[in-house]
Amino acid sequence: MIKKYPPINPRFPHFLHGGDYNPEQWQDTPKVWDEDIRLMKLSHCNTMSVGIFSWVSLEPEEGKFTFGWLDTIMDKFSKNGIYAVLATPSGARPAWMSKKYPEVLRVNSDRVRILHSGRHNHCFTSPIYREKCRIINQKLAERYKDHPALFVWHISNEYGGDCHCELCQEAFRKWLKNKYGTLDKLNHAWWTRFWSHTFTDWSQIESPAPYPHGESSVHGMNLDWKRFVTYQTVDFFKNEIVPLRKITPKIPVTTNFMGTYQGLNYWKFADELDVVAWDNYPQWHGWEEDWMLGCKVSFVHDINRCIKGGKPFMLMESTPSMQNWADVCKPKRPGMHLLSSIQAVAHGADTVQYFQWRKSRGSCEKFHGAVVDHCGHENTRVFHDVTEVGKTIEKLDAVIGTTVRPEVALIFDWENNWAIDDTQGPRRYKKDYQSTCENHYRQFWIRGIPVDVINMDCDFSKYKIVIAPMLYMVRQGVAKRLDNFVQRGGTLIATYWTGIVDDNDLCFLGGFPGPLRKVLGIWSEEIDALYDKDRNYVVPFKNNPLKLSGKYEARELCDLIHAEKAKVLAEYKQDFYAGRPALTVNKFGRGEAYYMASRNDEKFLNDFYQAIIKKLNIRRVIDTKLPQGVTAQVRTDGKKEFVFLMNFKQEKQEVQLGKTSYKNLLNGKTVSGKLVLPSFGIAVLERAER
Ligand code: GLA
Ligand code: ZN
Repeated sequence: MIKKYPPINPRFPHFLHGGDYNPEQWQDTPKVWDEDIRLMKLSHCNTMSVGIFSWVSLEPEEGKFTFGWLDTIMDKFSKNGIYAVLATPSGARPAWMSKKYPEVLRVNSDRVRILHSGRHNHCFTSPIYREKCRIINQKLAERYKDHPALFVWHISNEYGGDCHCELCQEAFRKWLKNKYGTLDKLNHAWWTRFWSHTFTDWSQIESPAPYPHGESSVHGMNLDWKRFVTYQTVDFFKNEIVPLRKITPKIPVTTNFMGTYQGLNYWKFADELDVVAWDNYPQWHGWEEDWMLGCKVSFVHDINRCIKGGKPFMLMESTPSMQNWADVCKPKRPGMHLLSSIQAVAHGADTVQYFQWRKSRGSCEKFHGAVVDHCGHENTRVFHDVTEVGKTIEKLDAVIGTTVRPEVALIFDWENNWAIDDTQGPRRYKKDYQSTCENHYRQFWIRGIPVDVINMDCDFSKYKIVIAPMLYMVRQGVAKRLDNFVQRGGTLIATYWTGIVDDNDLCFLGGFPGPLRKVLGIWSEEIDALYDKDRNYVVPFKNNPLKLSGKYEARELCDLIHAEKAKVLAEYKQDFYAGRPALTVNKFGRGEAYYMASRNDEKFLNDFYQAIIKKLNIRRVIDTKLPQGVTAQVRTDGKKEFVFLMNFKQEKQEVQLGKTSYKNLLNGKTVSGKLVLPSFGIAVLERAER
């Protein structure tokens, strides 16, 4: 049964639209504040994120609090129907704090303590910093607990990075003691007899450091350090929210993620957050085609929806025009702002928010896109684009709380990525875990088939297909769950470089793909790494059940496998392994498990997935071939379906809707047959559940 999720905060069951707002930068010219409110209403914005980097304006001296300006802003908000996503200020500290308590400053992996500077660089263990955060968070909660503008808590900003100070080293050792109990167990898990790295006392353990200064060759330790950094950051987050949960139990709590940032395993935040939020900054109109980039952005939206099992998320930041940190910063071309905003909604966002509301006058973000430019008025292209988004999402109330229920899941797993990145061999570069996942994902995006992007701990049972590209690490219990999935009729699609190590990055003994050998019905004996210029070829057998034909290119990695129980569908064409299996399928229980032994070209993926989609009767959002650059996504409440059509090309394109009739939610008209999508155009259509 599909359930509709409640709105982020039931007090306002509409799309949130707004951005990061820094009124403290304009304290000397409060007229700007009134102008801001006028412009917010004019642009159909209803939410502002405030306080993100406001610590020094809230506590200019230790223990001296100055909430006056924020009181004024919050009052102006509520008088004007605007809600506050209120931040805790831990993303940047006041200088007085760094001066008085140097322990709040991070120590980098080279063991040098930073100077007071920048932001996002606190020690996440420091008891003093935690205490200071707790105090200011408590003051904020006490002050605004009954304020009608308070809507969501925005905890800190873009947590990231790590700290290697003595306090963090101690916390790491404590975490390890708790995990392993004994040094013997730790030494075994980290395989430390290698290079005589055995630890004989806990105090000898130090976090990884760059070669040749410190340790980087113990892969089990590298993994555990990354796990610890996530653990400690989540713990820091939990400390931040203690007073908020107590004083404002009804106000939802979130923090903003950075896409597929590898410094933190975002899945570990899932249980602590009421709603997932992320910051999306694709470089449109850049070095890759917009539709290819659009597909990658969809991939990340899908992760964010899946982190809380399909619950709508917040697009906490995006730029209304350009960002300012890329090599070349391009404004969005006409149409792209609405398209990229609606794209988030199509994948499950219940908000469209920006960095930033008003451009700052000085410092390093003064040229970053904003709703209000330095000219200070509303007569700009960007302001009009933002207003258009505001007016558009006001028509989509029915979409709030709906979700996406794909038949297909793709595993993109943080820990697996960490382990792959750390490997030495078979290739040092072009390991390409993420882009391999994106390439498989794209086969569904171009056909308008929704996909859940999950990690390997998620429930597989609700899908028809689970795709697990390069599942190098197979954590405890995962193989069993994949076995069950296939046994009960599911289709598993696996590739080269799968089933190599366990949770500790220790190789499976007895033959790869380790615990997946049975379900896949193959044994991988060796792997060949190809130089960039080299190719092998995959040739399907005549009359193979997928009807693949011709010759496909294989590059970079070719697994040399033996079919044990599996049936061979294609073979390698050349080199000493010509004639050996390149694609296999294994019937297992009521399902099937495919193994792609090599990294194949786009044409292979296209033909392979086309055949699988047909065979398993996987539903497309619209039963038609979509033109290149157009995708279709769908959200549902179990009764109605909301179809989003998006054209990521600059030229207009046509989509055939067929006989089904739809209600166009943006103009109220009924449509069927041919639909024209303008340059970077969108359509949002409603139909009854099929
Ligand atoms: C991040 C931060 C914002 C801002 C933007 C600029 O997302 O959270 O404060 O710096 O980047 O793109
Ligand atoms: Zn530290």
